[in-house]
Amino acid sequence: MNVVLGIETSCDETSAAIMKDGELLSNIVYSQKIHIKYGGVVPEYASREHEKNLINTIKESLCVANLTMSDLDAIAVTYGPGLLGSLLVGLNMAKGLSIGLDIPFVGVNHMEGHLFANMIGRNDINYPYLCLLVSGGHTQIWEVEADNYNLISDTIDDAAGEAFDKGAKILGLKYPGGPEIQKASIGGNPERYNFPRPQVKKSKFNFSFSGLKTSLLYKCRDMNDKSIKDSLSDLSASYQEAIVDTLINKLELAINETGINTVSIAGGVAANKRFREKTSMLVDKYQKLSVIFPDMEFCTDNAAMIAAAGYNKIIKKQFSNYDLTAVPNLSLNNG
Ligand code: KG4
Ligand code: ZN
Repeated sequence: MNVVLGIETSCDETSAAIMKDGELLSNIVYSQKIHIKYGGVVPEYASREHEKNLINTIKESLCVANLTMSDLDAIAVTYGPGLLGSLLVGLNMAKGLSIGLDIPFVGVNHMEGHLFANMIGRNDINYPYLCLLVSGGHTQIWEVEADNYNLISDTIDDAAGEAFDKGAKILGLKYPGGPEIQKASIGGNPERYNFPRPQVKKSKFNFSFSGLKTSLLYKCRDMNDKSIKDSLSDLSASYQEAIVDTLINKLELAINETGINTVSIAGGVAANKRFREKTSMLVDKYQKLSVIFPDMEFCTDNAAMIAAAGYNKIIKKQFSNYDLTAVPNLSLNNG
């Protein structure tokens, strides 16, 4: 079971990766461009793009690894959460290859994949640890104990990545919004506009971002196009600061409440520079705290993290059956 093909097609990234004996040999990510003009992912187009590009992405991952299809021993594939049509393209490709090559396959939870992004090329993370999962669809803090995941914090409305994406749209920036807002913030004053750091009444651990987005919308409604353009860097920096502060505040709360001093950050928003800066300020404050970020290439969706999470199951012979179906709303503690 030493050569594993990872396949990821849950949203708008078509990706394939090869891992041999737990070591990553290739990771090909094709980011679908078609969605840019719509300002967000169009599910129908996403599945069509996966269907068109997945086989070539897999071939390229083998080519870079200097291997061929017949060298594969097992396949790891995302089966949820994500867009149904997109998940089905990857899952059915995995099943087809599994039957054709007579090798086993395993379904991988995409969120568990994000957690494993931090394990690629390292084995120094000790249990238990806290994982802050910040992506386009999720903002959660998990307490991780070997194969056991305990949810301690979640968003009650939008995810942090979604707040970046929706904020970017309001500011007239492109999709995906996170990198665009980060770029627009350069040189901006993060204190010029006072956006809220939302609190959730019922649970102090939970996140909420929709009020923050609405306050940006109201601010921009009061300004004309020219003043938005002239103040773009200050607006972006202040909005980014409010998202980052919200993440840091809740993370600090979870660290204090659980007494756990190892934190792993996962998901696309982990790529944010200001978030990384403010996390290192937290590390300076808590001497015992250690925070691990994935390499930039493993922050956003990729098949390397799916191969890594799958490899962990494959070595324990935890394979899937052909009746495995795509599960769009799969959670970390139910699959
Ligand atoms: O994990 P991911 O690739 O996909 C999901 O599973 O959702 O995360 C995508 C999200 C998007 O919302 C995108 O705007 C955000 O991650 N993102 C960022 C940055 N790069 C990607 N957010 C803030 N700063 C970034 N540099
Ligand atoms: Zn993701």
